[in-house]
Parts: sequence; C-alpha cells; structure tokens
Amino acid sequence: ERPDGLPRDLEGLHVVVSAGGTREPLDPVRYLGNRSSGKQGYALARVAAQRGARVTLVAAHTVAIPDPAGVDLVHAGTAEELRSGVLDAAADADVVVMAAAVADFRPTQVTEHKIKKTDHDPDPVALTRNPDILAELVAKRAAGQTIVGFAAETGDASGDVLTHGRAKLARKGCDLLVVNAVGDGKAFEVEDNAGWLLAADGAERPIELGSKARLATEVWDAVVALRNHGAT
Ligand code: CTP
Ligand code: CA
Repeated sequence: ERPDGLPRDLEGLHVVVSAGGTREPLDPVRYLGNRSSGKQGYALARVAAQRGARVTLVAAHTVAIPDPAGVDLVHAGTAEELRSGVLDAAADADVVVMAAAVADFRPTQVTEHKIKKTDHDPDPVALTRNPDILAELVAKRAAGQTIVGFAAETGDASGDVLTHGRAKLARKGCDLLVVNAVGDGKAFEVEDNAGWLLAADGAERPIELGSKARLATEVWDAVVALRNHGAT
C-alpha cells in the first residue's frame, strides 16, 4: 500500500481499457456517432495506473478530459480503428476492459466529397455491421486473460435492465459485465453511474450510485478477486 492508501494489487499486470464513442464517417464532415463521454473508461485507466498496472488506453472520441497520468494512450476514431488498437494491445494483456461505446453499424459508403443538399429527399443511408470487438476478444482469449464488458441498458417490453444484462453476459462470454441503467438522464454526460456488476459464475452485485472513479474501483476490486480467488 502507498501513502495515498491505494493497494498496488494490479502491479505486474498489463491492462487494456477502451473508452469513448466511435464515429463512423458518412462524408468528410459528417459521421454517425454516440453520446459516450469517455469519462468511465478514463476513470478505469487512471485507477488501474494508480494501483500499479501498466495501462494501455485505447480512446475513441471523448469530451475534453485530461489524459490520465502514466498511461499509454492510443487514439482510435472508428470501430475498425478501435478494433485494431484493442486487439494489438490485447495480445499481451492480462485484463481487457471494453468501456468504449462502439457503433454497431457504419455507413456502407463514405463519399469522397461532401454530400450536397438537394431539392428532394435523399436516399436512405445504407449501413453495414461493424465487427463485435468484445466477442472477438473472447473468441481469441489467451489462457488467464480476464475480459470485462460494459452494457448500457434501458428496460423495455422484453425485460428489465438486469434481465437484459444477464442475457448479454451469457451472449458475450466475458468474465464480468458492468450493467449501467440508462435513460432518464442517467449515465450519459453525467458524473455518476449506477447499475449491476454481473460475473460469469452467476455472482451479481448492485453498484450504488456514485462517481465514475468509485465504479472503476469496484470493477478493479472484482477483477482482482476473480484473478486471485476465482470468484468475485
Ligand atoms: N462492443 C464491442 N464491439 C461492438 C459493440 C459492442 O466490443 N461492435 C462491446 C462494448 O464495448 C461493450 C459490450 O460490447 O463492452 C456491450 O456493448 P452493447 O452495445 O451493450 O452490446 P451489443 O452486443 O452491441 O448489443 P445492443 O447494442 O444491441 O444492446
Ligand atoms: Ca451496441
């Protein structure tokens, strides 16, 4: 333990964190994007570095936030760029945390020139599926690598936030899934988060409303417990 009271329990580990939202270009000035601020991923990277990890932060678009100290920063604009940044860094990583909001689809055509306004309605924008980076990480996982996913869920007619989270954890095959409740102004562009931490062994714990640094601490605590004791 250091004077700041933080455990050095990630010492000797290489952790990779993805953060922010990807932007998928439509033409030289326009893109399909999302409202991820990047703050949760940056908090995860900062806390991991404070706890002794070697950290690679693969950052898509974020609001203006300072670069975390002592972190290797890799920039990635699109889902494809994020994929190569994450897969490269994950090759020798002990832990990978996918906190980035990755666009599920991208415009099929990126026009070379700016699309001009016309006096009629334009054709619909055709979209192509992006690769699922988390699924690819799980499929390629090296022995002993811990993989953490994030899910922003709203309840809907087919189930509540927790039900969707459980189904997503099973589908993705990662070790831990952090489920954020979104909608009603929660999670996006705000300082606080709340949700559930779900483990592949069925363990479930609520995450109380708190700062993104606090959530980061809980995620790293769970990762350390999983790696050291096989359970959260
Ligand atoms: N993710 C990813 N690559 C994608 C989409 C998502 O790696 N193309 C990752 C995210 O970084 C997150 C997790 O998968 O850690 C869950 O993302 P989410 O969007 O909630 O899941 P999807 O499978 O895309 O399902 P949906 O958007 O339909 O809820
Ligand atoms: Ca998605």
